[in-house]
Amino acid sequence: MTVDWDKYLSDEAKLRLPSVMKMAARTRGTISFASGLPHSDCFPMKGLSIKYETPESNFKKCAIGSNEDLANKLEADDEIYEACQYMSGRGTTFFDKWCHSYIEKLHKPAYEEWDTLIQAGGTFSLSAILRLLCNPGEDTILAEELTYPCFLETCKPLRVKVFPVKMDEDGVIPEDMDRVLTNWNTDKKTRDFKKPKFFYSMPVGQNPSGVTMNASRKQGLLDVCRKHDIIIVEDDPYYHLQLNMETEEIQSLLKFDRDGRVIRIDSFSKMLMPGMRISIVTANKTFTQKLTMSNELSIHSAAAPSQFIVYMLMQEWKAAGFRQWLDHIQDLYRKRRDVLLDAFEKHLPADLCTWNRPSYGMFIWIKINMDRFPKLDADKSDVEWAAKVEDVIFEQALDEEIQLSKGHWFMIDNLNMAGFRATYACASFDDLYHGTERFGKAIRQVHAKLYD
Ligand SMILES: Cc1ncc(COP(=O)(O)O)c(C=O)c1O
Repeated sequence: MTVDWDKYLSDEAKLRLPSVMKMAARTRGTISFASGLPHSDCFPMKGLSIKYETPESNFKKCAIGSNEDLANKLEADDEIYEACQYMSGRGTTFFDKWCHSYIEKLHKPAYEEWDTLIQAGGTFSLSAILRLLCNPGEDTILAEELTYPCFLETCKPLRVKVFPVKMDEDGVIPEDMDRVLTNWNTDKKTRDFKKPKFFYSMPVGQNPSGVTMNASRKQGLLDVCRKHDIIIVEDDPYYHLQLNMETEEIQSLLKFDRDGRVIRIDSFSKMLMPGMRISIVTANKTFTQKLTMSNELSIHSAAAPSQFIVYMLMQEWKAAGFRQWLDHIQDLYRKRRDVLLDAFEKHLPADLCTWNRPSYGMFIWIKINMDRFPKLDADKSDVEWAAKVEDVIFEQALDEEIQLSKGHWFMIDNLNMAGFRATYACASFDDLYHGTERFGKAIRQVHAKLYD
């Protein structure tokens, strides 16, 4: 019997599609500047010892891993019991405390009634926050005009419409957000929709543009959000990947927030290891309590062994060791960024494209100079032509065995712009160099085919 399983699916499930970021995973044989997997040199965990009861002793005696010191230490810890047991929606008490004090030290909000909550990674946090704030098919959101595709893909099945706010080399433009919100009920693009509940932002090493918001932009953003009574979701996985040697620490939007309207997401994926699936959400207590209740009837918490491992690592390293680790990975990413930028200088056609020099994160944005790719198809609008040029360069690059992420994957609405996101996160130094050579060749080839 052939059953139409689709007919059982909820509207939410029907709208689910494969994530474009998974499709950006390396195509066989190509060099990839597309997927932002951290390089394995940036993972501190190189082994693990576990002490466990053995079947040979009918589970009365323990075997220990190769590192006896560690095994003995684990035996003594009450934390082991907690990490094996069911726990509250807040996670383990020891890691809960650690996370709270980590946020207090780095990003203490400027109001009293705030709290932290352990969550199972930034991606999960985003989906939980969407469900916390938005009614499916009804609510709307604002985001930077180039934004993280996984966020758009999370909104889609919930039928939460996202509207773009313009950005430049310093990030989102608060005046544009003010314009969009002030004209909401009259502008024909927005007037049939509810006013947005929140603005989703990546203020540091933005994905995909690589730009970082300065303090005056942050203040401007908070002012506009306060004026229009909008929540801000600050997704900040790249905070610790500082690539320039500035001494000044960058400030979270939490520091500008006097009301409790910022929900901040810190992820351990880029500063430690994505496999841990741990993040911290910081927000006002109404929001953290509702998120905790939602955890209690779903995941309970991020996996407790992960919480335990990260906690033990932090106990071993102490604050100074953790700082040293962050300096170490910053150094690794800085070198990688500089190798890629050097290769760009040598091999990308500077008359056909431009690129930025990110001071945080993993991404460089390459903008195709559309003045040099004038429209050849009268039936197409400028926006359609930009998309076409981007497609053709992407395909030509694949023929040259180099893959980048297409700019259009990150656009809320198609823009009159063609571009690519390149990451230096995981390719080898050789591949960073040769991949750039190939990409430069692909852009030149497309230009020659179209205009020579
Ligand atoms: C902006 C942004 N948010 C969230 C994530 C995912 O974070 P996590 O691994 O904590 O789910 C990424 C990863 O690439 C990202 O770029």
